Amino acid sequence: MEQYIIKGGNPLVGEVEIGGAKNAALAILAAAIMTDETVMIDNLPDVNDINVLLEAIEGIGAMVQRIDRHTVKINGSGIRSFDIEYDYIKKIRASYYLLGALLGKYNHAEVALPGGCNIGSRPIDQHLKGFRALGADVDIEHGKIIAETEHLVGKHIYFDVVSVGATINVMMAAALADGQTIMENVAKEPHVVDVANFLNSMGANIRGAGTDVIKIRGVSRLHRTSYSIIPDQIEAGTFMFAAAATRGDVTVLNVIPKHLEATIAKLVEIGCEVEEFDDAVRVVSKGDLHNTHVKTLPYPGFPTDMQPQIGVTLALCKGTSTITESIFENRFKYLDELARMGANVKIEGNSATIEGVEKFSAARVSAPDLRAGAALVIAGLAADGITIVDDIVYIQRGYERFEEKLRSLGAMIEKVSTEREIQKFRLKVG
Ligand code: UD1
Repeated sequence: MEQYIIKGGNPLVGEVEIGGAKNAALAILAAAIMTDETVMIDNLPDVNDINVLLEAIEGIGAMVQRIDRHTVKINGSGIRSFDIEYDYIKKIRASYYLLGALLGKYNHAEVALPGGCNIGSRPIDQHLKGFRALGADVDIEHGKIIAETEHLVGKHIYFDVVSVGATINVMMAAALADGQTIMENVAKEPHVVDVANFLNSMGANIRGAGTDVIKIRGVSRLHRTSYSIIPDQIEAGTFMFAAAATRGDVTVLNVIPKHLEATIAKLVEIGCEVEEFDDAVRVVSKGDLHNTHVKTLPYPGFPTDMQPQIGVTLALCKGTSTITESIFENRFKYLDELARMGANVKIEGNSATIEGVEKFSAARVSAPDLRAGAALVIAGLAADGITIVDDIVYIQRGYERFEEKLRSLGAMIEKVSTEREIQKFRLKVG
């Protein structure tokens, strides 16, 4: 089992290149099979979630050709099976995007039903509501969602919950439906816009992505394209909070500052200096940082995927901060780990009260999920002494070369898997 070992105390200083957005890439890879022509996708993050989805796509007969670490060619003309097995869904929930993609292209999809996960129960009723509205028969049998129809017909759909996944999944199917679909109360996240732009580059006719209403005029077929994925706002934000928590000075490169507005606003509120450039943001954290209040909300609100990273930072800010998690019910597990490092936290339902402390003391902790794992690494970087983070397989799902990028900013962090490697690190850092 791989672990991170971290000697804390160094402010992070320097520049770091941000990769492509994992959550945009997952949907775009699924959408790439919707044409029989070859699609080239660039700025793909080289992370485990992406590699598992590529396997799932290959598994149903599509051609997947890695050009280099961040570029892939996909050709969906060879697809013979519409059945995505539980093994994939278990490893990566977002394989459910193949439901919308296959249903749109072939009028038939079978995908294992995703269960809950570490951050909450995560129903997919809104996805199914959308497919049904487009005329698909959707049944759940033997743990599988089976969606089928003669042909999909555009419809006016009102979502009861703002859902990134449902917005994207239904948008994909509607792109190849007959006539016009109007989707209301949709998610406005940058990756929703990126998927719409990608589909449009394949010949789809989608308008309004990034607003509350998306209008789709169905087309009969999609064609080849070459597309570059947007930068990952969550990876960028993670490094920005790492700069804040370690009292460092970090510039994130290759970002879209507009996508980071909620993060930047909170960093400024707690006392960091933030400088925005065309495609970079610099965060300088010096002197005392102070408390603030955070509520997670759909975009453009503060992202739930950045909640653990700000939580760790607030635990080192003067005064009492509060966090309200309004998207997922089970996203405070990292605070229990953080308490073991000396943080002063109280959790009540979906709210956490955090009383800032001067310093964390290093401990052995476990990553409860992807973003919480990254947040605990930030905690280790800001702690006195040597922290070990277990279960980093979660972190590797979504961060490419995380430890390398942190080391380039002056962090003392290594990936280890044996007691000997741990001892070697201890000797090296003294
Ligand atoms: C996506 C992101 C995830 C992020 C989340 C919220 C991907 C692969 N994952 O997840 O990293 O944390 O957006 O920004 O892009 N809901 C329902 N019914 C549904 C669908 C969702 O009730 O059919 C609820 C969920 O339980 C949750 C809320 O809606 O409370 C938002 O979920 P959603 O936006 O769908 O998240 P995901 O797309 O799963």
